[in-house]
Amino acid sequence: MTSIATSEKIAIVGAGPVGISAARALKKKGIAYDQFEAEGGVGGNWRHGVYHTAHIISSRKTTQYPDFPMPDHYPDFPSAAQMLEYLNAYVSHYKLDEHIIFNTTVEHAKPSHNGLWELRLSNGEIRQYEGLVICNGHHWDPRWPSYEGKFDGQMMHSKDYKDPSQLRGKRVLVIGGGNSACDIAAESARTAKSAHLSLRRGYWFLPKTFYGKPTAELLDTWMPVWMQRIYLGTLLKISVGDYRKYGLMKPDHKLFEHHPTINTELLHYLKHGKIKAHPDVKRFDGNFVEFTDGGREEIDLIVCGTGFNVSIPFLEPGVVDIEGSIVKAQWGLVAPHHRQLYIYGWAQARYGFGPLLTPGSELIGDLILLQRRLSHPIGEVLQTMRQPLPRTHLLDPMDTLRRMKSARASLWMLPLVDKYLMPNGKQRKSGVEV
Ligand SMILES: Cc1cc2nc3c(=O)[nH]c(=O)nc-3n(C[C@H](O)[C@H](O)[C@H](O)COP(=O)(O)OP(=O)(O)OC[C@H]3O[C@@H](n4cnc5c(N)ncnc54)[C@H](O)[C@@H]3O)c2cc1C
Ligand SMILES: NC(=O)c1ccc[n+]([C@@H]2O[C@H](COP(=O)([O-])OP(=O)(O)OC[C@H]3O[C@@H](n4cnc5c(N)ncnc54)[C@H](OP(=O)(O)O)[C@@H]3O)[C@@H](O)[C@H]2O)c1
Repeated sequence: MTSIATSEKIAIVGAGPVGISAARALKKKGIAYDQFEAEGGVGGNWRHGVYHTAHIISSRKTTQYPDFPMPDHYPDFPSAAQMLEYLNAYVSHYKLDEHIIFNTTVEHAKPSHNGLWELRLSNGEIRQYEGLVICNGHHWDPRWPSYEGKFDGQMMHSKDYKDPSQLRGKRVLVIGGGNSACDIAAESARTAKSAHLSLRRGYWFLPKTFYGKPTAELLDTWMPVWMQRIYLGTLLKISVGDYRKYGLMKPDHKLFEHHPTINTELLHYLKHGKIKAHPDVKRFDGNFVEFTDGGREEIDLIVCGTGFNVSIPFLEPGVVDIEGSIVKAQWGLVAPHHRQLYIYGWAQARYGFGPLLTPGSELIGDLILLQRRLSHPIGEVLQTMRQPLPRTHLLDPMDTLRRMKSARASLWMLPLVDKYLMPNGKQRKSGVEV
């Protein structure tokens, strides 16, 4: 095992859409870094996570990085292959690949006693860095449901669904009301022997477009959530109507209180009898699934579109708390008690990633540079400034853009708070208290 100290360098973990955006900002600001990627290429989910037939639900314009637009010939909803091509083009354009160390997993990261962050890598190396930007993604650790009884058919998570051939000829039950479940239910309607969808409550299902425009593009940055609700709610009343007319339950929450499901095909196939909607699963009985309304279906394959856990398995326990899907980091980014640790991209943006990532990455770059001048960890400075910890994992894009702007505008205050308002005594020089 070798140990390499790179005290003036930052380590970025992951080279998915979030990691490459962070890399671009650090490079732009002249901050030295290495980037570790477990896979053999960039793109994250768009390289190895999503099913081959996926098309984005967020639109091209609300997903592209503002400083690097997607090609004009791309459709409003690019395919997974086009997304990957775009992300590779971004990396080539900004020459980010020269700092990416591929096929190398960060297996463990902990604060070291010399004030640096110590990383153990899958190639056996131990390296030390000034800081860490963790961009390991939040759609890879499957969340499984559990039910009474035993199911004798095949059961998989949406994470392992890759191709319609996995559905062909089977009686398929998809569980969940999110975008994965509804995409796979629609795919089953086209290819499987029969398609069933189990929903444990009522959700809002939004069509992908209204009057030819992607739904994500209807809303302007200045619009508060209540106005977005009135606007989209009215459009839904006219174009979709009462969800009960599709065999679905009435939503039990306000629009946008849950990550929206954007899928035109689901409603289409329900109306054509190609998907049968059911309430929650009550129990399994051999090859049969029983539902809470007493219904019973013989099923060959269950696909659990039940979402993902937010997890950072390689980070030393106790460094940052994760409560459910919420990472307890200041401004949603900054570790509360440690210097130069940023947890990035764990929250669930309502539409595409690009518009939020470009300013978010710039903010991280600013914070890294600022932290070098401060005596206390920025997380503690923000605590003294009474900045609240996040209470939800859902991000309203418009509100988040506004908050990031005001965060950047308030950075000048941090050195003053660090110098004059922090409790005396405990100054932290680095990753750990000294
Ligand atoms: C089916 C599906 C469809 C989606 N559609 C959309 C959409 O329409 N619009 C949208 O904006 N988002 C969509 N998403 C969300 C998607 O997760 C994001 O688009 C985006 O991929 C998140 O980027 P990320 O960099 O945070 O994570 P990821 O894309 O997951 O990338 C994380 C990277 O980190 C690497 N990594 C993880 N741990 C380590 C480690 N310990 N060491 C080294 N490397 C590591 C992984 O190998 C991976 O390459 C979709 C997700 C799914 C599953
Ligand atoms: N085409 C696309 O662009 C596309 C496709 C797929 C996914 N995505 C994106 O990928 C991300 C993940 O989406 P996802 O759909 O995989 O996850 P998700 O958004 O977390 O949805 C999970 C769904 O499963 C339900 N669920 C969870 N546990 C359950 C249980 N025990 N029993 C029954 N239902 C349960 C949830 O309902 P509750 O609310 O009741 O918990 C929710 O409806 C999202 O950002 C999504 O937009 C995009």
